[in-house]
Amino acid sequence: MDFNWTDLKAHKERISTTSIKTLLSNPERAVDFSARSGDMLFDYSKTSIDEKARNALLDLAQAAQVESRRDAMFTGEPINLTEGRAVLHTALRAQSGPIFVDGQDVLPEVQATRAQMAKFAETVRNGTFQGQGGKITDVVNIGIGGSDLGPAMACIALSPYADGPRTHFVSNVDGAQIADTLKGLDPTTTLVIVASKTFTTIETMTNAETARVWMADQVETPGNQMVALSTAGDKAAAMGISADRVFGFEDWVGGRYSVWGPIGLSLMLAIGPDEFDAFLQGAAAMDDHFRTAPLGENLPVLLALVGIWNHQICGHATRAVLPYDQRLGRLPAYLQQLEMESNGKFVRVGGEAVRDTVGPIVWGEPGTNGQHAFYQLIHQGKQVVPCEFLVAAKAHEDALSHHHHLLLANCLAQSEALVLGRSFDEAMALMAAKGLTGDEQIRQARHRVFQGNRPSTTIIYPKLTPFVLGQIIALYEHRVFVEGVVMDINSFDQWGVELGKELAVALQPLVKGGDASGKDCSTQMLLNYIKENG
Ligand code: F6P
Repeated sequence: MDFNWTDLKAHKERISTTSIKTLLSNPERAVDFSARSGDMLFDYSKTSIDEKARNALLDLAQAAQVESRRDAMFTGEPINLTEGRAVLHTALRAQSGPIFVDGQDVLPEVQATRAQMAKFAETVRNGTFQGQGGKITDVVNIGIGGSDLGPAMACIALSPYADGPRTHFVSNVDGAQIADTLKGLDPTTTLVIVASKTFTTIETMTNAETARVWMADQVETPGNQMVALSTAGDKAAAMGISADRVFGFEDWVGGRYSVWGPIGLSLMLAIGPDEFDAFLQGAAAMDDHFRTAPLGENLPVLLALVGIWNHQICGHATRAVLPYDQRLGRLPAYLQQLEMESNGKFVRVGGEAVRDTVGPIVWGEPGTNGQHAFYQLIHQGKQVVPCEFLVAAKAHEDALSHHHHLLLANCLAQSEALVLGRSFDEAMALMAAKGLTGDEQIRQARHRVFQGNRPSTTIIYPKLTPFVLGQIIALYEHRVFVEGVVMDINSFDQWGVELGKELAVALQPLVKGGDASGKDCSTQMLLNYIKENG
C-alpha cells in the first residue's frame, strides 16, 4: 500500500499564500473544522488545512486502511509484528466482551484482575490491610517509563478526587530521587509498589531493593508491605512478595499503554475503585467513538491527520503540547513516551526505510507558565511550532473562578495571537502612539512584528474529571496508532532503547575504575574524569 504524498505536498505549496486568518474569515469554518466526542470538542480550524487538504488527508487514511487496521487491533490480531503480539490495552478498559486472543476470551481474566485490584485497594483505603505500624498512609510506586508516567501523570491530574493514601513515584536510578522520596516517610505505614512489566528493568529492580532495605530497618517482614505489578509473577515471588499481592497482566499490553490495568494500582489507591472505573469508562467511550465515528468526524483520526499535515507535509519538526490545566503538568512527559517511543522509527513494517521523519519531537509545559518562558520562540522564532492547547471550560475550584477566567482568556488569546500576528504597519502605528518617529520608530517596530499564521489546535472539555482524563489519554493513544498506520510503522515495539541499555551494562565496571582501553577517546576522557573526581 502506498499513497500520494506528492499531491498533498503540491497542494500545500498551492495554498501556502492563503493565511489561516483568511480561512477563518469564513464563519462556517469553526463548525466545519471541528469535531466532538461526547462533551469533548476538538477545534482544528486554526490550522492551514483547507477542505481539499482535509479530503486528501482522509484519502490518505483510507488508503492506509486505518479502519481495517483499527479493527484488527481491537479484535486481538497480532499487529505488533516484530514481537508477534496482539495490542489490546483497550481490553483493560472494555465494558463488554468477548475479546479473543489466540481463540481465548481474555475479558474474564481482565475483569478478575480488576476485581482483585479493587478489593485490595478498598482494604488499604479502609485500613483493613495494615502495615506493621497501622493504616497505610503512603504509597511509593517504583517503576519507570510506562510503569511510572501514566499513574504519576494521572495521580496529579485527578488530585481533586484523591482521598486515599498519599502517592509518591520513584523512577530514576539516580539515588537522589529515592532518597528524597523516602526521607520523611514512615516505613511501617508505607506500601511499596514494584511496577514493572518485565520485572527485569535495572532502575526499578535497584530502587525496589533500596526500598526493601529501607523498610527492613523497621519492618520485620518488608515483603508484607510490598506489591508487584508485572507480567512475570515468578520474579515477584522471588522478591518475597506473596502471590495475593501480585497483580498480573499479559504481554499484549504495551508498557506505555498500561495505566488501565494493574500499573494503575497507585491511582486506584489514591482515588478509589469507583473513580478509577470512571477513568476506564472515559477511555472506553473514546474507544467506541474511534471504532464507530466516520473518519471525517473521528477525533483520533483528525488529530493524527493534523499531526501528519504539520509534520510530514509542512515540515514542522516539533509539536508543543500546552495544557492550560496545571494538573496536566505531566501530560507532555507522558505524551513524549507515548508518541516518541511509539513512532520514533525509521523502518517500516516490512523492513524498508520510512519516506519521511515519522514522529515529531513532542514537548511542552502548562500554560500560563510557558507564556513567561518559551512562548517568545513560538511567536517570533524562525521555526513554526504547531501548538496543541488543552483546557477545561470549568475548574474544580468554584471559589477561584476568577483564576479560571484568566486562564481561559490566556489560552484563547494565545491561539488567536498565533493566527493573527501583528503586521509591520500595526507595529509602526503602535510606536507612533508612543511618540517614536523616523529610524527609531522603524527599528522598534521591527521587533514588535508577529508573523502570525501559526497553526494550533484546541481540545476543550467540560472539566478534568476521571472520565475526561480517560477520554484524553485514549484519544492520544489512538492518534499515535493512526499516525503509525499511515506511516506504515509498528508503533508497539521500542528496539531503539536497547543499545544504550546494553552499553550501560558494559560500562558499569568501567565507571568503578575498570580498564577502559577499548573505549573511544571521548568515553575514556570522561571515565578518567570520574576516576579523578568521583
Ligand atoms: O526501556 C523502555 C521500556 O521498556 C519502556 O517501554 C517501558 O515502559 C519501560 O522500559 C519500563 O519497562 P518495565 O515496565 O518492563 O520495567
